Amino acid sequence: MIHIKTPQEIEGIRKSCKLLAELFKKIEEEELVSEGVTTKDIDKFVESFIREHGARPAFLGYRGYPASACVSLNDEVVHGIPSQKRKLKKGDLVKIDTGINLEGFISDAARTYYVGDVVPETVRKLMDSVKDAFYSGVEKALPGRHLSDISHAIQEIARKYGVSVIKELGGHGVGLRLHEDPFVPNYGPPGRGPLLRAGMVLAIEPMFALGDGRVYTAKDGWTIATRDGSLTAHYENTILITEKGFEILTEI
Ligand code: MF3
Ligand code: CO
Repeated sequence: MIHIKTPQEIEGIRKSCKLLAELFKKIEEEELVSEGVTTKDIDKFVESFIREHGARPAFLGYRGYPASACVSLNDEVVHGIPSQKRKLKKGDLVKIDTGINLEGFISDAARTYYVGDVVPETVRKLMDSVKDAFYSGVEKALPGRHLSDISHAIQEIARKYGVSVIKELGGHGVGLRLHEDPFVPNYGPPGRGPLLRAGMVLAIEPMFALGDGRVYTAKDGWTIATRDGSLTAHYENTILITEKGFEILTEI
Protein backbone atom coordinates (compact mmCIF):
# COMPACT_ATOMS: atom_id res chain seq x y z
CA MET A 1 0.00 0.00 0.00
CA ILE A 2 1.30 3.44 -0.91
CA HIS A 3 0.85 5.81 1.98
CA ILE A 4 -0.34 9.30 1.05
CA LYS A 5 1.33 11.65 3.50
CA THR A 6 -0.73 14.14 5.52
CA PRO A 7 0.23 17.83 5.51
CA GLN A 8 1.76 17.40 8.99
CA GLU A 9 3.79 14.41 7.88
CA ILE A 10 4.97 16.35 4.84
CA GLU A 11 6.15 19.18 7.11
CA GLY A 12 8.19 16.72 9.16
CA ILE A 13 9.63 14.96 6.12
CA ARG A 14 10.51 18.32 4.59
CA LYS A 15 12.60 19.23 7.66
CA SER A 16 14.37 15.89 7.69
CA CYS A 17 15.17 16.27 3.98
CA LYS A 18 16.42 19.83 4.40
CA LEU A 19 18.84 18.66 7.07
CA LEU A 20 20.08 15.93 4.74
CA ALA A 21 20.61 18.48 1.96
CA GLU A 22 22.63 20.58 4.42
CA LEU A 23 24.72 17.52 5.32
CA PHE A 24 25.71 16.94 1.69
CA LYS A 25 26.42 20.65 1.28
CA LYS A 26 28.76 20.46 4.29
CA ILE A 27 30.46 17.35 2.90
CA GLU A 28 31.14 19.29 -0.30
CA GLU A 29 32.20 22.56 1.34
CA GLU A 30 34.67 20.76 3.60
CA GLU A 31 35.93 18.63 0.70
CA LEU A 32 35.53 15.62 2.93
CA VAL A 33 35.88 13.21 0.04
CA SER A 34 39.61 13.45 -0.60
CA GLU A 35 42.79 11.41 -0.67
CA GLY A 36 43.78 9.77 2.62
CA VAL A 37 40.35 9.99 4.26
CA THR A 38 38.96 6.60 5.35
CA THR A 39 35.43 5.51 4.62
CA LYS A 40 35.00 5.28 8.41
CA ASP A 41 35.98 8.99 8.69
CA ILE A 42 33.13 9.76 6.28
CA ASP A 43 30.72 7.73 8.39
CA LYS A 44 31.84 9.51 11.58
CA PHE A 45 31.38 12.91 9.93
CA VAL A 46 27.89 11.94 8.81
CA GLU A 47 26.89 10.53 12.20
CA SER A 48 28.22 13.56 14.13
CA PHE A 49 26.45 16.01 11.86
CA ILE A 50 23.15 14.17 12.20
CA ARG A 51 23.38 13.87 16.01
CA GLU A 52 24.53 17.49 16.45
CA HIS A 53 21.31 18.52 14.76
CA GLY A 54 19.14 16.54 17.17
CA ALA A 55 18.38 13.74 14.72
CA ARG A 56 19.28 10.07 14.35
CA PRO A 57 21.01 8.22 11.51
CA ALA A 58 18.20 6.39 9.70
CA PHE A 59 20.48 3.63 8.34
CA LEU A 60 22.15 2.67 11.65
CA GLY A 61 20.58 -0.57 12.83
CA TYR A 62 18.24 -0.77 9.83
CA ARG A 63 17.95 -4.55 9.25
CA GLY A 64 21.15 -4.74 11.30
CA TYR A 65 23.17 -2.33 9.11
CA PRO A 66 26.19 -1.33 11.25
CA ALA A 67 26.81 2.32 10.20
CA SER A 68 25.21 5.70 9.52
CA ALA A 69 26.28 5.98 5.89
CA CYS A 70 26.89 3.55 3.07
CA VAL A 71 30.22 4.39 1.43
CA SER A 72 30.69 2.37 -1.75
CA LEU A 73 33.85 2.58 -3.87
CA ASN A 74 34.39 2.08 -7.62
CA ASP A 75 32.73 -1.21 -8.66
CA GLU A 76 30.61 -1.18 -5.49
CA VAL A 77 27.14 0.24 -6.03
CA VAL A 78 25.49 0.46 -2.64
CA HIS A 79 25.68 -0.66 1.00
CA GLY A 80 29.47 -0.40 1.30
CA ILE A 81 30.25 -0.67 5.02
CA PRO A 82 32.57 2.09 6.28
CA SER A 83 35.96 0.83 7.44
CA GLN A 84 39.04 2.28 9.07
CA LYS A 85 41.10 0.16 6.72
CA ARG A 86 39.79 1.73 3.55
CA LYS A 87 41.63 4.93 2.65
CA LEU A 88 40.49 6.95 -0.34
CA LYS A 89 43.05 7.30 -3.09
CA LYS A 90 43.26 9.35 -6.28
CA GLY A 91 40.94 7.98 -8.92
CA ASP A 92 38.40 6.46 -6.52
CA LEU A 93 34.74 6.90 -7.38
CA VAL A 94 32.94 7.29 -4.05
CA LYS A 95 29.22 6.90 -3.45
CA ILE A 96 27.83 8.23 -0.20
CA ASP A 97 24.28 7.18 0.62
CA THR A 98 22.70 8.21 3.92
CA GLY A 99 19.43 8.98 5.61
CA ILE A 100 18.12 10.96 8.55
CA ASN A 101 15.42 10.24 11.09
CA LEU A 102 14.27 13.59 12.44
CA GLU A 103 11.43 13.24 14.92
CA GLY A 104 10.31 10.07 13.17
CA PHE A 105 10.46 11.49 9.66
CA ILE A 106 12.87 9.80 7.26
CA SER A 107 14.90 11.25 4.38
CA ASP A 108 17.23 9.38 1.99
CA ALA A 109 19.75 10.68 -0.57
CA ALA A 110 23.00 9.69 -2.28
CA ARG A 111 25.78 11.42 -4.23
CA THR A 112 28.80 10.26 -6.22
CA TYR A 113 32.19 11.97 -5.82
CA TYR A 114 35.51 11.52 -7.60
CA VAL A 115 38.82 11.68 -5.74
CA GLY A 116 41.16 13.89 -7.74
CA ASP A 117 41.03 17.08 -9.77
CA VAL A 118 40.86 15.81 -13.32
CA VAL A 119 37.89 13.52 -13.85
CA PRO A 120 38.48 11.12 -16.77
CA GLU A 121 35.97 11.50 -19.59
CA THR A 122 34.29 8.10 -19.11
CA VAL A 123 33.91 8.68 -15.38
CA ARG A 124 32.50 12.17 -15.99
CA LYS A 125 29.99 10.68 -18.38
CA LEU A 126 28.93 8.03 -15.85
CA MET A 127 28.56 10.64 -13.08
CA ASP A 128 26.54 12.91 -15.37
CA SER A 129 24.33 10.03 -16.52
CA VAL A 130 22.84 9.24 -13.09
CA LYS A 131 22.21 12.90 -12.32
CA ASP A 132 20.63 13.47 -15.69
CA ALA A 133 18.53 10.34 -15.23
CA PHE A 134 17.33 11.53 -11.84
CA TYR A 135 16.15 14.85 -13.30
CA SER A 136 14.57 13.19 -16.29
CA GLY A 137 12.79 10.70 -14.01
CA VAL A 138 11.53 13.25 -11.51
CA GLU A 139 9.97 15.30 -14.31
CA LYS A 140 7.55 12.42 -14.72
CA ALA A 141 6.68 12.39 -11.00
CA LEU A 142 3.38 14.19 -11.55
CA PRO A 143 -0.12 13.43 -10.30
CA GLY A 144 -2.05 11.34 -12.82
CA ARG A 145 1.01 9.73 -14.40
CA HIS A 146 2.03 6.11 -13.92
CA LEU A 147 4.92 5.09 -11.69
CA SER A 148 6.75 3.42 -14.57
CA ASP A 149 6.86 6.70 -16.49
CA ILE A 150 9.65 7.58 -14.04
CA SER A 151 11.34 4.21 -14.61
CA HIS A 152 11.19 4.52 -18.37
CA ALA A 153 12.60 8.06 -18.40
CA ILE A 154 15.56 6.87 -16.30
CA GLN A 155 16.21 3.93 -18.62
CA GLU A 156 16.18 6.18 -21.67
CA ILE A 157 18.93 8.37 -20.19
CA ALA A 158 21.08 5.28 -19.51
CA ARG A 159 20.58 4.30 -23.13
CA LYS A 160 21.51 7.79 -24.34
CA TYR A 161 24.80 7.68 -22.39
CA GLY A 162 25.57 4.08 -23.32
CA VAL A 163 25.70 2.91 -19.69
CA SER A 164 23.77 0.04 -18.04
CA VAL A 165 20.95 0.19 -15.52
CA ILE A 166 21.61 -1.95 -12.44
CA LYS A 167 18.27 -3.68 -12.63
CA GLU A 168 18.32 -5.45 -9.28
CA LEU A 169 18.21 -2.14 -7.41
CA GLY A 170 15.80 0.77 -7.48
CA GLY A 171 14.03 3.56 -5.67
CA HIS A 172 11.23 3.31 -3.13
CA GLY A 173 8.61 5.09 -1.09
CA VAL A 174 10.08 6.80 1.99
CA GLY A 175 9.13 9.26 4.73
CA LEU A 176 7.75 7.36 7.70
CA ARG A 177 9.97 4.31 7.14
CA LEU A 178 13.18 4.00 5.13
CA HIS A 179 11.68 1.62 2.60
CA GLU A 180 8.00 1.94 1.85
CA ASP A 181 5.89 0.95 -1.14
CA PRO A 182 6.20 1.34 -4.06
CA PHE A 183 9.45 -0.08 -5.45
CA VAL A 184 10.60 2.28 -8.21
CA PRO A 185 12.46 0.37 -10.96
CA ASN A 186 15.05 2.24 -13.00
CA TYR A 187 13.93 0.60 -16.25
CA GLY A 188 10.85 -0.68 -18.04
CA PRO A 189 8.06 0.42 -20.35
CA PRO A 190 6.06 3.57 -19.55
CA GLY A 191 2.39 3.63 -18.53
CA ARG A 192 2.52 0.80 -16.00
CA GLY A 193 2.16 0.52 -12.25
CA PRO A 194 0.19 2.64 -9.79
CA LEU A 195 -1.04 6.13 -10.61
CA LEU A 196 0.98 8.85 -8.95
CA ARG A 197 -0.84 11.11 -6.52
CA ALA A 198 -0.15 14.28 -4.56
CA GLY A 199 1.21 13.40 -1.12
CA MET A 200 3.40 10.53 -2.30
CA VAL A 201 7.03 10.73 -1.17
CA LEU A 202 9.58 8.76 -3.19
CA ALA A 203 13.31 8.15 -3.21
CA ILE A 204 14.28 8.21 -6.89
CA GLU A 205 17.75 6.73 -7.31
CA PRO A 206 19.30 5.85 -10.65
CA MET A 207 22.28 3.46 -10.34
CA PHE A 208 24.26 2.81 -13.52
CA ALA A 209 27.39 0.87 -14.47
CA LEU A 210 29.92 1.16 -17.29
CA GLY A 211 29.76 -2.62 -17.84
CA ASP A 212 26.77 -4.93 -18.15
CA GLY A 213 25.17 -3.93 -14.82
CA ARG A 214 25.00 -7.39 -13.26
CA VAL A 215 25.74 -7.37 -9.52
CA TYR A 216 26.49 -9.70 -6.60
CA THR A 217 26.48 -9.33 -2.81
CA ALA A 218 29.93 -9.47 -1.19
CA LYS A 219 30.89 -11.82 1.66
CA ASP A 220 30.13 -9.14 4.25
CA GLY A 221 26.47 -9.71 3.41
CA TRP A 222 25.90 -6.05 2.51
CA THR A 223 28.13 -4.60 -0.19
CA ILE A 224 26.62 -4.89 -3.66
CA ALA A 225 29.18 -4.67 -6.49
CA THR A 226 29.31 -5.30 -10.23
CA ARG A 227 30.25 -8.80 -11.37
CA ASP A 228 32.43 -7.48 -14.17
CA GLY A 229 34.20 -5.05 -11.83
CA SER A 230 33.07 -2.02 -13.82
CA LEU A 231 32.58 1.40 -12.24
CA THR A 232 29.19 2.52 -10.98
CA ALA A 233 27.50 5.81 -10.06
CA HIS A 234 24.46 6.65 -7.94
CA TYR A 235 22.36 9.80 -7.54
CA GLU A 236 19.38 9.87 -5.20
CA ASN A 237 16.93 12.39 -3.78
CA THR A 238 13.75 12.21 -1.75
CA ILE A 239 10.96 13.91 -3.67
CA LEU A 240 7.35 14.90 -3.01
CA ILE A 241 4.51 14.77 -5.50
CA THR A 242 2.23 17.80 -5.16
CA GLU A 243 -1.03 18.87 -6.83
CA LYS A 244 0.99 21.03 -9.18
CA GLY A 245 4.00 18.83 -9.83
CA PHE A 246 6.95 17.68 -7.77
CA GLU A 247 9.42 19.04 -5.25
CA ILE A 248 12.95 17.77 -4.72
CA LEU A 249 13.23 17.80 -0.94
CA THR A 250 16.87 16.82 -0.43
CA GLU A 251 18.38 19.59 -2.54
CA ILE A 252 19.00 23.17 -1.52
N1 MF3 B 1 19.36 4.25 0.50
C1 MF3 B 1 19.55 2.86 0.73
C2 MF3 B 1 18.60 2.10 -0.13
O1 MF3 B 1 17.60 2.66 -0.54
C3 MF3 B 1 19.27 2.50 2.14
C4 MF3 B 1 20.32 1.67 2.70
S1 MF3 B 1 19.67 0.66 3.90
C5 MF3 B 1 20.95 0.25 4.87
O2 MF3 B 1 18.83 0.94 -0.41
F1 MF3 B 1 20.55 -0.72 5.57
F2 MF3 B 1 21.99 -0.08 4.12
F3 MF3 B 1 21.27 1.23 5.60
CO1 CO C 1 17.16 4.84 -1.07
